Amino acid sequence: MRPTIAWEEDVIVMIDQRRLPREEIYLRCRDHLEVAAAIRDMAIRGAPAIGIAAAMAVALGMKRHAGQDVGGRERAYAAIHDVLAETRPTAVNLFWALERMRRRFAETRSAPKDALDDTLRREALAIEAEDLDACRRMGELGAALVPERARILTHCNAGGLATAGHGTALGVVRSAARLGKVRMVFADETRPFLQGARLTAWELLRDGIPTTVITDGMAGHFMARGEIDLVVVGADRIAMNGDVANKIGTYSLAVLAREHGLPFFVVAPTSTFDPETPNGSGIPIEERPQDEVLRFAGTSIAPEGALARHPAFDVTPHRLVTAVICERGVARPPFAASLSALLRKEGA
Ligand code: MRU
Repeated sequence: MRPTIAWEEDVIVMIDQRRLPREEIYLRCRDHLEVAAAIRDMAIRGAPAIGIAAAMAVALGMKRHAGQDVGGRERAYAAIHDVLAETRPTAVNLFWALERMRRRFAETRSAPKDALDDTLRREALAIEAEDLDACRRMGELGAALVPERARILTHCNAGGLATAGHGTALGVVRSAARLGKVRMVFADETRPFLQGARLTAWELLRDGIPTTVITDGMAGHFMARGEIDLVVVGADRIAMNGDVANKIGTYSLAVLAREHGLPFFVVAPTSTFDPETPNGSGIPIEERPQDEVLRFAGTSIAPEGALARHPAFDVTPHRLVTAVICERGVARPPFAASLSALLRKEGA
């Protein structure tokens, strides 16, 4: 499989995740506006992948303006930044990546054209490479916490498709599978976009990892029957007290895991930690169009006149989280202390 996203001779190429698993089609984005549309319309999704796409889009967008004077470059930069910042509000990796790019631009805004182009491109590629390293490291750290013959429940897609590769939650699954520890992965289908049924199952089966798709409402049933050993999910934003925003339905799973005495692990790189947000009440939750709930594959599934809500994420309170696994270590309660310590650690 080609990487989730790649910079190829001034075109950003990404697999169109809306078409999976039936078709493996690659989108070729020629400017930042096309990348912004791909993020907004979910052709590329998942917190780290959104950040990488935005960073590449900044670098690509600025290539057309690097020939201008400093004032022209600054105006162009602000416009490109704003278009990307408005694509999706919850995944903090988007804003983290944009901030890294902004700092690089500030340092090189008066540099010769080629130097500016090169600096921005290299920063975007560094964000991508660091994410892949982080996923591999989280995989190792998390796999050590997975018991033998584990039956793992996961939600949404926190895999290679949602990152530079390997994945966060699925990175743990992959690394544990390589150690021979995984008996079965239960993938929540994840209504309404079906990231679990379409993407997680696709990725895991390609790696030969046994996968069972269940509908979102079935998790409690399998937990009560003793068929699940642990829950592993990704995150879109982690507040400094350990509250976790992730795909809608994650909170219910955490409550169920607590009821059944199961570990609930959150796997996310430090780029998903939000030092500006003390607790989950400050996390913006994206509301997507009603039609994404009321229609399925182009057909109405509810009577005319029915309303719908579509919060794309929910917040799991920190008290339900067993541990947060990031590339710098494993944070356990009290999270206010352990997450800050990891952020301060080498590499921050
Ligand atoms: O709406 P999506 O598909 O972008 O939501 C993705 C998730 O909620 C993932 O679980 C999260 O981004 C972690 S990805 C490594």
